[in-house]
Amino acid sequence: MLDDNLRSAADSFAAQYEALRRLEGWTEPSGREDPDGGQPRLWKGRLRSVSEAASMLRHEWTSGSQPLVADIGSGGGWAARFLQPAEVLACDLLDVSPGSATVTVRADMRRLPIRSATLDAVLYAASLHYAPVEIAVSEAARILRMRGLMVAVDSPIYQDRQSQAQAVARTAAYYSGVGYAELTDHYHPIGSMALRQALEECGFAIERFEIGSKRHLFGRFQRRQPTSFVVARRIR
Ligand SMILES: C[S@@+](CC[C@H](N)C(=O)[O-])C[C@H]1O[C@@H](n2cnc3c(N)ncnc32)[C@H](O)[C@@H]1O
Repeated sequence: MLDDNLRSAADSFAAQYEALRRLEGWTEPSGREDPDGGQPRLWKGRLRSVSEAASMLRHEWTSGSQPLVADIGSGGGWAARFLQPAEVLACDLLDVSPGSATVTVRADMRRLPIRSATLDAVLYAASLHYAPVEIAVSEAARILRMRGLMVAVDSPIYQDRQSQAQAVARTAAYYSGVGYAELTDHYHPIGSMALRQALEECGFAIERFEIGSKRHLFGRFQRRQPTSFVVARRIR
């Protein structure tokens, strides 16, 4: 679902991104990102966040219904296992083979091949920061039906511009240190004010807004692992 220009940029991103995730230990031997195959110490926090997001969403759904959810920036698509009984559309720039999701689409979160007002929920697990926040939020608002929920977990969100700029510098140094400097262009650490503003302007009511991080070691590089949790409902 990518045009030729986007596909060639996506291929170049995917080659570097997949090599890095393998190096860091997130993937199965096949290269697929999945908690069942990667290093448990890396996946622990993500599993907790996605499991909490899924149980919150299940509370929303009436029994017998089959909601439609997009897992955006889905990686290996494993979150679909947590989102049952929903039908899950897994969208990612990577060319991922169908896993647990109902449908897998290679697509860009900035322009998703999904009709307006069709989804009950959108989930961004550690992925919202891979596009400028105003664009990602506006696209989420477009595809959600009225009262639908946007849930974003584990993206870096910063209170002020200085920490945001420091995060970019830290990440650029990390990517260049491991030999994948071009990935820096895809990293858009989120400003908390910018996110709040984008949500409000796009017709969302914010229901939960938590931001934080903890230190995490990847080999000899020390990085902060984000633990944010944001829930917003489309109300107009
Ligand atoms: C940190 S990973 C998280 C993957 C998965 N959600 C998980 O929790 O395992 C971020 C994902 O966002 C994807 N991504 C990056 N830029 C994207 C874009 N513009 N559109 C769609 N997906 C994108 C990456 O390919 C990657 O799979």
